[in-house]
Amino acid sequence: MTNGLPAQVSIYSDQETLSHAAAERFVSLSHAAIISHGRFTTAISGGSTPRRLYSLLGMPLYRDSIDWKKVHVFWADERCVDPSHEDSNYKLAADTFLLKAAVPLENIHRIRGEEGSALAAAEYQEELHRYFTGSQKLVFDLVVLGAGVDGHTASLFPGSPLLRERSREVVPVYLEKPKVSRVSLTLPVFNRAADVIFLVSGEDKADIVYEVLKSNNQKQYPAGLVQPFDGILSWFLDKAAAARI
Ligand code: 6PG
Repeated sequence: MTNGLPAQVSIYSDQETLSHAAAERFVSLSHAAIISHGRFTTAISGGSTPRRLYSLLGMPLYRDSIDWKKVHVFWADERCVDPSHEDSNYKLAADTFLLKAAVPLENIHRIRGEEGSALAAAEYQEELHRYFTGSQKLVFDLVVLGAGVDGHTASLFPGSPLLRERSREVVPVYLEKPKVSRVSLTLPVFNRAADVIFLVSGEDKADIVYEVLKSNNQKQYPAGLVQPFDGILSWFLDKAAAARI
């Protein structure tokens, strides 16, 4: 539920159709935001599901209908690796659409994971404060999220005290298994967004999709805690992920 309204759930035959629908939504939200306030701000995730969406954004069909000079790209989370590392969420976006769409360098607000989680989180928080100033509140026009089989989203994991974070917009995250460091935006940022889209595909996600969207256990899962106060929450699922709802 969000703002008293249920999440909008759309079910597509497969991941390809889902990705095209998400690309169309990206394009239409960018147009609406640029008309309304002159720019489009988005925070994007990593993972395997959005890869096709990002590739589509780099292709002429979608790329050429977006005014990239007015698009500002941020990240929902990042791994503490070099930006050239295969696990880097920045690299995923760079390889798929940032370069193909020639997004201006000053519009790319990446998390500098290679500096370690504490420093990267502090710098990213400063970057957000530098960018969203004055009347421009920290409200993303679009946040693109995924959900893990355990219900994590971005780098917010079940049971983490970071789920109770209310003041910081960015947090360093340390995972015990596997031992890795990450940086993540926090729930207050996601819940202030104008639009949040979850992209979820594959049969291994059917149980968590049921838990988050249909059971009463929603709040046990980070993905279920993303409920924008005034924004629109959409879940884009393929048939396999939607098998239990
Ligand atoms: C990341 C994400 C993470 C992801 C989920 C789902 O950088 O990996 O931010 O939260 O969205 O793990 O990933 P898949 O799309 O690979 O299932």
